[in-house]
Amino acid sequence: MAELLPVDTFDLLIFGGTGDLAMRKLLPALYHRDRDGQFSPESRIISASRGAMSQDEYLASVEASLRSNLPEGDFDDAHWSSFRKRLSYVQADAIQHDQWGAVVNALAGHEDRVRVAYLATAPNLFGAIATGLKANGLVTEKSRIVLEKPLGRDVSSAREINNAVGDCFNENQIYRIDHYLGKETVQNLLALRFANSLFEPLWRRSAIDHVQFTVAENLGVGGRVGFYDGVGALRDMVQNHLLQLVCLFAMEPPSSLDQNAVRDEKIKVLRSLKPITADDARANTVRGQYTAGAVEGHTVAGFLDELDGKDSSTETFVALKLEIENWRWSGVPFYLRTGKRLKNKHSEIVVQFQDVPHSIFPEQKFNVSPNLLRIRLQPDEGVQLSVMAKEPGPGGFDLRPVSLDLSFAETFGIRYPDAYERLLMEVLRGNPALFMRRDEVEAAWEWIDGIIEGWQEAKQKVESYVSGSWGPPASSMLLDRDGRAWHQED
Ligand code: BG6
Repeated sequence: MAELLPVDTFDLLIFGGTGDLAMRKLLPALYHRDRDGQFSPESRIISASRGAMSQDEYLASVEASLRSNLPEGDFDDAHWSSFRKRLSYVQADAIQHDQWGAVVNALAGHEDRVRVAYLATAPNLFGAIATGLKANGLVTEKSRIVLEKPLGRDVSSAREINNAVGDCFNENQIYRIDHYLGKETVQNLLALRFANSLFEPLWRRSAIDHVQFTVAENLGVGGRVGFYDGVGALRDMVQNHLLQLVCLFAMEPPSSLDQNAVRDEKIKVLRSLKPITADDARANTVRGQYTAGAVEGHTVAGFLDELDGKDSSTETFVALKLEIENWRWSGVPFYLRTGKRLKNKHSEIVVQFQDVPHSIFPEQKFNVSPNLLRIRLQPDEGVQLSVMAKEPGPGGFDLRPVSLDLSFAETFGIRYPDAYERLLMEVLRGNPALFMRRDEVEAAWEWIDGIIEGWQEAKQKVESYVSGSWGPPASSMLLDRDGRAWHQED
């Protein structure tokens, strides 16, 4: 396991500190990093929220949430009694800046520490909270601010947020989270591409037929239905997670891992995405919405049932074909799909290499299938390369694909840290390389806005799909029309 280095003493102030993200992701991630000894004894975690809550009530709710959200066996009474000493609760309304006395008092006298404000709130509060921090004199040289996605709902709202936060913090103090960038296997994509010489000569149009990106979830929208309705899968997943995966996959080799070296290469990919017009939207995108069905043996409700019968054309599934207009990728289709309530939870990138130019096996029993490189992001993280092999036997040539399979969990034999553990440590260390720069977020929104306009112009409908399936039939047809198919393992 990589060496775990301690971070400088910090004060971490979490707005939305009693919310779902803080309880389910941030506090468990901080608990793990603390348990591994990376925090100094003085470092503190201060949760801020609108409601009144005593310190005891707050600690009781964190304890309950850690007990239910940490992987089995990870909660430890002895460690909890030391971790809880770092935690405190302050009441603060994001908008009422003149009533932030409790926040000001909590931070007073520690201006020399790394000071992180984590905004685990709705994005419409980002500008107000940044302004409140500045107005109360809480922004120091060592301050950083972390913004959770979604950063707006289109390019203009993203710009508004970026301007408001940019008035209070310098760009290098702003950490815009896309938690996919903290996933071990997403980072492994960098290792695969740039720590091996094998792939680079093949990573281009001359060798690759097409690439498929799948981020499938089996859960529905559940308790987030209020947020999700009117947002949809394109804004919730494609604008950020999928486009970031595309960028890391397709970018040119950066000169180093320096924050700007990587982000400069990613933005070039975003700027090379071919815009999707209304005509393209009709032909090259699919919108779906789940209906009632069964997922892993359990009957589940449809999206509209979760909305209590309210009508909605929000998509819970999207599939699309994108093109990157540059020398490396011109003519190589990238097929993306993501959706909720699909057959199972799995995310992967599948690279299909080109067919052999000529087959010398005329009597083969099976066709020579193209090589596939499958990069499994979750679960069961690993890499699989399928190659053609001859079946043993004295007869002719019976060929079939066999796979060279690397499972990271088996190879490294350790727990995979949650993405938030990595990302929080990067914030505390002051390394923004794994976070999105302002220009990246805005370029991604510009491309997404084009699709949404295309959908509106083309009056593109959502097509139903049964929960537990792989999405609407149009998703398969998107590839079928090009003589291709999704490589899914049922
Ligand atoms: C979030 C989306 O960013 O990512 C959710 O808002 C989605 O809708 C989640 O469920 C998926 O993350 P993961 O890590 O479970 O793949």
